[in-house]
This record gives sequence, C-alpha cells and structure tokens, in this order.
Amino acid sequence: MAPIPLLTPYKMGKFDLSHRIVLAPLTRTRSYGNVPQPHAILYYSQRTTKGGLLIAEATGVSDTAQGYPNTPGIWTKEQVEAWKPIVDAVHKKGGVFFCQIWHVGRVSAYHYQPNGQAPISSTDKQIAPQTHPDGTVEAYSPPRRLTTDEIPQIVNDFRLAARNAIEAGFDGVEIHGAHGYLIEQFMKDSANDRTDEYGGSLENRCRFALEIVEAVVKEIGADRVGIRLSPFADYMDCWDSNPEALGFYMVKSLNKYNILYCHMVEPRMSIVEGRRQIPHRLLPMRKAFNGTFIAAGGYDREEGNKVIAEGYADLVAYGRLFLANPDLPKRFELNAPLNQYDRATFYTSDPVVGYTDYPFLESSA
Ligand SMILES: Cc1cc2nc3c(=O)[nH]c(=O)nc-3n(C[C@H](O)[C@H](O)[C@H](O)COP(=O)(O)O)c2cc1C
Repeated sequence: MAPIPLLTPYKMGKFDLSHRIVLAPLTRTRSYGNVPQPHAILYYSQRTTKGGLLIAEATGVSDTAQGYPNTPGIWTKEQVEAWKPIVDAVHKKGGVFFCQIWHVGRVSAYHYQPNGQAPISSTDKQIAPQTHPDGTVEAYSPPRRLTTDEIPQIVNDFRLAARNAIEAGFDGVEIHGAHGYLIEQFMKDSANDRTDEYGGSLENRCRFALEIVEAVVKEIGADRVGIRLSPFADYMDCWDSNPEALGFYMVKSLNKYNILYCHMVEPRMSIVEGRRQIPHRLLPMRKAFNGTFIAAGGYDREEGNKVIAEGYADLVAYGRLFLANPDLPKRFELNAPLNQYDRATFYTSDPVVGYTDYPFLESSA
C-alpha cells in the first residue's frame, strides 16, 4: 500500500517528527486567573503522539497582553511552574511542544488591563464591536498608541516570555503574528497609521515583528523559533491592501534569522462548484521560505494529504478537527470517521466538558 503522505516522517531542524499532523494553537479559556491548570495535562497528553508536534494555545507575554477570560500567561514564576507538569506530560509521551507567545494589543478592554488602563497598540483607532455567532456582542476599549521609545519594552516582553517557555520545558516558541493581534496591528496597513519608523512602508510596518524575532532568536536560538502569520486574514479590523507582498516580504526577512518554521494561515475558504475549496495562495511564500513550512486553515484528511504529496507544505496544522478528535493521527491513519466539534464549548470554562471528553476511537466504536 502507498504510504499516507500525512503519516510520513519529517525532520524539522533537530526534531524528528514521525508524522505531519500538527495540533494548531487553540485558545480554550480554561486557565483560571491566567494560570495554566492541571486539567490541561490531560487535554494536551490526549493529543500527543510519539514524534508529533503540538503548539500550545496563545499564551500572554505580559500583564497587558490579555483580552479574553482565563487565557494562560507565561510572565510570572507561578505561570512557568504551572506549565511544567503539562509540558512534562507531553514529553513523556514523546511529543514535541511549542508555546505560542502572544500579545492581543487593542483586542482588549479596560477590565483586562492592569489598573484598568487603555490597551496598547500601534494605533489609537478602536476596533468596532464584534458580533459573535451566538449573537452576543464584544466591545473593545479605545487603545493607546505606543510611543516609539516604549516599543523596546514590548519586544523585551516577548524575549522574556520565550526564555520562560524554555524554562518551563517547552521545545520552542511560536511567535503569534496572526489574526489581528498586536504584531499584526503593526504589520497591516488598515491598522497601522504611525508616522515613525514603525509605520508607513512595508519595511517599517514589519520592523516590530522582526525585532521580536531577532530578540527571541538571540535569547533561545533560531532552531527553537517559529512564527505564525495570516497575511490574508481580516479579523479584528486588521487587513492589508497587499497581503501577497506582506507575506512575501516577511518570509524573505525571516530567512535572515534562519528560524525553524513559518506557520501560515490560508485565506478564507471559498465555494467552488459547490465544494469548499482552500485557495492555496501561500505557494509563493512557501517557495521563498528556507525553513519548515506549516499550512493551516480548513484542512481535512484528503486536502492535507494532497498538499504534503505536492510539497505545498511540510506540515499541516489542524484546529477544530484536532480539538474534537484527540486521536486525530490515528483516525487519519485508519481513515476512520471523525467526531463533530461542538462550537458552543470552544470557549467555555468547564475543565472537562468540550475539553477532555471527546471520545477516542476505541470508546466511540
Ligand atoms: C477554539 C479555537 C481557538 C483558537 N485559538 C487560536 C490561538 O490561540 N492562536 C491562533 O493562532 N489561532 C487560534 N485559532 C485558529 C486555529 O489555530 C486554526 O488556524 C483555525 O481553527 C483554522 O484551522 P481549522 O480549519 O483546522 O480549524 C483558534 C481556533 C479555534 C476554533
């Protein structure tokens, strides 16, 4: 029988991966008081395979980085200690575990901020209130534009978070440069209205992201650093007038730092001839990037196998399918049916329901 492309081994830097199926970073809002909880041990170890790559949920780099209830952080000693048993459990099962380090910027509100201060951003433009699928409306507070001389402090927060991640035992970090959060608020021209050296030209808008990459690489080594980018996304009022140029400029610049991987999110899916189609517009960036290339966004088994076989990506990250199928690699191997995900419990706070109670293949048979 021909091998299943997603289940072939891959060498990512010094990491020997046994397959190409990556756990995408997934915010689960179950880290009470921004401290990772013991129930995450079971959640992540359920999704661990020997030689499989897992990316932890977005994890705040500082006390100004938060914009959602109960998301974990990695800036205090207590948080670092709380991550340790979770990382240990993944390592005991042979997994490779990266921590996604994150700052929400203006995707926040006064009540998430220290002393009720304004969220920080590249800009003082406020995000329009967003309506969730369930009809509830999320409002954001007006942000405060960072002054030029405050920016090194934020870069330093990412550096310290990376150091803390290594201290907690993680194999590396993924810098969250996607989905309308702080780094994208600098990169994209819908949000960045600065007139200093961090605004205007593409080079200037990418300066903040690349300063973070450089600082993190210096701190923990390029072979432990990945980044996630979503040049085509338009979440949180963050979009770019030329996403191809932005993505291309970023990967070319990342090559200078020799980082381990670039993780890119596909543009939104479109309906072509009645079938949902992944646009596959990342190819020029994949070709230009020297490291490991991870694609994400709307993949299923068939589409994942296709892009691995074609060399469009080295690895494929799965979000919702992996959330609902802790044994996703096994199910892909057997071409077994999948559990449906329950959107209603994505962001609830229960330590079990919708979190660790999705059945494994044996128990669902
Ligand atoms: C519940 C949930 C939480 C998410 N949290 C994050 C996150 O913390 N960081 C991130 O970069 N993307 C996050 N995403 C996006 C996913 O990583 C992924 O890119 C997206 O779900 C599309 O992939 P999929 O079609 O395989 O689900 C989240 C998505 C979902 C559904």
